[in-house]
Amino acid sequence: MRDMLPEIEIAPDEHGGLIDPAALFGGEKREIWMEIGFGAGEHLAWQAEHNPDIGFIGCEPYINGVASLLRHAADRNLTNIRVLPDDVRPFLDQLPRACLDRLFVLFPDPWPKRRHADRRIVQFDTVDKFSHALRPGGELRLATDDPGYQRWMLARATGRADLRWLARHPEDWRVRPEDWPQTRYEAKAFEEGRSPAFLRFERTDPK
Ligand SMILES: C[S@@+](CC[C@H](N)C(=O)[O-])C[C@H]1O[C@@H](n2cnc3c(N)ncnc32)[C@H](O)[C@@H]1O
Repeated sequence: MRDMLPEIEIAPDEHGGLIDPAALFGGEKREIWMEIGFGAGEHLAWQAEHNPDIGFIGCEPYINGVASLLRHAADRNLTNIRVLPDDVRPFLDQLPRACLDRLFVLFPDPWPKRRHADRRIVQFDTVDKFSHALRPGGELRLATDDPGYQRWMLARATGRADLRWLARHPEDWRVRPEDWPQTRYEAKAFEEGRSPAFLRFERTDPK
C-alpha cells in the first residue's frame, strides 16, 4: 500500500479550489464514476475491471478499506482508479458542476438513532452537491438495508426537479441490477434477514 497509494491518491486543493476529476486521468476516460464509502472496495474494483474506459474515484476514510481496495486493484492490474482516503464532504465542495457521470453511495452508515441522524451522508445539502456534480443524464445510485434510512433517502432524493427516481415497479428497487455487484454489507444484510433497497436516480436537466 505504501508504494501504490501515493501514485493514485487524490490530493485535495489546499486552497479549496475546484478539482477536475477528468484531469486525474489525463482526460483520457470516456466517463467518470465515483463511489463514496467504498468499504472493502469490492464494488469499485468490479466496476473498474468491467469498465476499463471509465475513470473511477473512490472515497473512503477507513484505512483498512483503502488497503483492501488497493489489493483488489493490484491483483487485477487496474489502472483506472484514483482514491481519496478521507471524508468525502469537503471534497464534494471542490467538484465542478456536471463533472461526474455516475455516483454510488452504497450502504452508508445508517446512524439509526434519531439524535445521530445528522451524521448520515445523505442529507438535503449533500444531495444538492451530488446533483451539482452529476451531468444531466448521469446516475445516482443509493442503497440501504435500513428501512428508516430508505425512507430518509427517498424523502431527500425524490420530489426534486433535478433527479428522477427510475423505479416503475417494486422489483426495480428490490432486485439489484446485473451491473451492480454485491457488497460486503449487502451480503451481511441478507444473512441477517434484512431486505436492501437499490435506488437509482437519473440526473435530469430542468430548464
Ligand atoms: C456501512 S459501510 C458500507 C461499505 C460498502 N459501501 C459496502 O456496501 O460494503 C459505510 C462506509 O462509508 C464510509 N464512510 C462513512 N462516512 C464517510 C464519509 N464522510 N466519506 C466517505 N466515506 C465515508 C465508512 O468508512 C464505511 O466504510
